Amino acid sequence: MQIPDIIIAIDGYSSTGKSSFAKIIAKEFSFLYLDSGALYRGVTLFAIENGYIGDDNTINVPELDKALSGLDLHFGPNGTYIGKRCIEKEIRSMEVAGKVSPIAAVAEVRTFVDRKLREFGRNGRIVMDGRDIGTTVFPDAQLKVFMTADPLVRAQRRADEMRAKGMETDLQEVLKNLQERDYIDSHREVSPLTQAEDAIVLDNSHMTMEEQLQWLKNIIKERFGL
Ligand code: CDP
Repeated sequence: MQIPDIIIAIDGYSSTGKSSFAKIIAKEFSFLYLDSGALYRGVTLFAIENGYIGDDNTINVPELDKALSGLDLHFGPNGTYIGKRCIEKEIRSMEVAGKVSPIAAVAEVRTFVDRKLREFGRNGRIVMDGRDIGTTVFPDAQLKVFMTADPLVRAQRRADEMRAKGMETDLQEVLKNLQERDYIDSHREVSPLTQAEDAIVLDNSHMTMEEQLQWLKNIIKERFGL
């Protein structure tokens, strides 16, 4: 199916399968996939390693903000990088998951990440997933999906994914982390997680990837008269 050079924004709760869905969409339509959460996770790893966030999650915002101007965070052949170092594995750890939502609530961090995301998305034909893509980063995106699913289903999926990568995983800990992040993400002052008015809701608790793709294709056909 040939579709126009649009931007597809996929937002929603933690571990609803946004990135898996976005990757399938990118493959299907030859779009570029961009994972905005990976950049927030990358800033979080940087903050941990350089002491800008403490064990109690207090953040030294002025110092972190200053350091961000020298942070070379970008995407490369194997995922997310700081300079030449691939950080893809480290940013998926529970330690980063436990600190990313407080970091993502910092206005200066959001400004830093937003600038990068808009640069990447300049030319269209991209699918980007996150929390505020359809509301803040690309409010004019021509297609917006808001994803949700049963919390226990989500925790189970995330735990399976982590186990498959050889990471030690506790289902209850994963569930607790998802719920904490959803709470912080939805209640922060700057650019909170909310459904854009023109977003279409997808609850995929009981859907296969194939069904989700079919669902999206039907919407695209209808909307763009294909
Ligand atoms: O675990 P999951 O894949 O659902 O999350 P992620 O997309 O990797 O995002 C990790 C965290 O980054 C979220 O819990 C948010 O705190 C933050 N984030 C955000 O604030 N805005 C975005 N556009 C994307 C992620």
